[in-house]
Amino acid sequence: MYPLRRNRRLRKSESVRSLVRETRLSPSDFLVPLFIVEGKSVREAIPSMPGYYRLSLDQLAKEVRELWSLGLSSVLLFVKVPDDLKDNMGKEAINPNGLMQMAVKTVKDTCPDMVVMTDVALDPYSINGHDGIVEKGRILNDETVNVLAEMSITHAEAGADFVAPSDMMDGRVLTIREALEEEGFYNTGIMSYSAKYASAFYGPFRDALDSAPVDKGDVPKHKKSYQMDPANRLEALREVTMDIDEGADIVMVKPGLCYLDIVREIRDTVNVPLAVYQVSGEYAMLKAAVEKGWLDHDPVMLEQLVSIKRAGADIIASYFAKEAAQFLQ
Ligand code: PBG
Repeated sequence: MYPLRRNRRLRKSESVRSLVRETRLSPSDFLVPLFIVEGKSVREAIPSMPGYYRLSLDQLAKEVRELWSLGLSSVLLFVKVPDDLKDNMGKEAINPNGLMQMAVKTVKDTCPDMVVMTDVALDPYSINGHDGIVEKGRILNDETVNVLAEMSITHAEAGADFVAPSDMMDGRVLTIREALEEEGFYNTGIMSYSAKYASAFYGPFRDALDSAPVDKGDVPKHKKSYQMDPANRLEALREVTMDIDEGADIVMVKPGLCYLDIVREIRDTVNVPLAVYQVSGEYAMLKAAVEKGWLDHDPVMLEQLVSIKRAGADIIASYFAKEAAQFLQ
């Protein structure tokens, strides 16, 4: 075919490259994770996540206004719970006036059109640092799922648009869906962390929320009995199809970069929106390399984000969302 076909013709200038570009990032692709803490005027740096902060509710309001002005229209909320409110059962998780529930109201009062998603799992509330209730060294499934359903109702009551179960218990999507229907929240959606792997990339997040599994007695030091084995592909498809059957509106793959083969396969298999979570360890790796002077921040960030989208993500949850939106402006 050469020289009739010369692929470099389509690369010869930025205008031509831009004309034939297949994937474009836009601020509306992003879901912005936010960490909330108790207190007033708190904007606490997270050492393993340079440039990221824990925010008190007043600071959250400020942040949300800024995100909105950058064209970022969806947030995913996480809370850091004080030790004295933690237990094994997640009692504080279902407090209608708890920090998460107040955070949802704060965002909705500040910016009513902002899409608010809430993390649903027990780990920030757990004295054991597990996503479920622990008994005799095991993570209880069905008992945990019932608490998650109650928790979801309080988030829906506070005004959440989507609840996002990140716990990987079996059957939680169905139980949450049924509970939401029963309480009349038929417009509250579920974004399920469907294919969530037992990844070593979650470390900085666990620093941010002080939510790592504790080193105590027979409490498991890892989450491998509920999160997925990184070696598995078919299992991700089973998780995703089951979650959709149970009523998930959006499914998610997590982490991002190491799992883009899974992302593509799911995108080609199912017909609901697919989210990808580029997690804390992925963020920390780039920040650390940039601090060392070994990588150039913005081009690497954008290459990673566009790769996630090219692999098939409709929604990208990323700690880079704000920096990317600033760049795209
Ligand atoms: C826990 C949860 C985790 C993350 C989101 N929800 C950590 C874990 O499973 O231990 C990780 C996010 C990140 O690393 O950025 N339910």
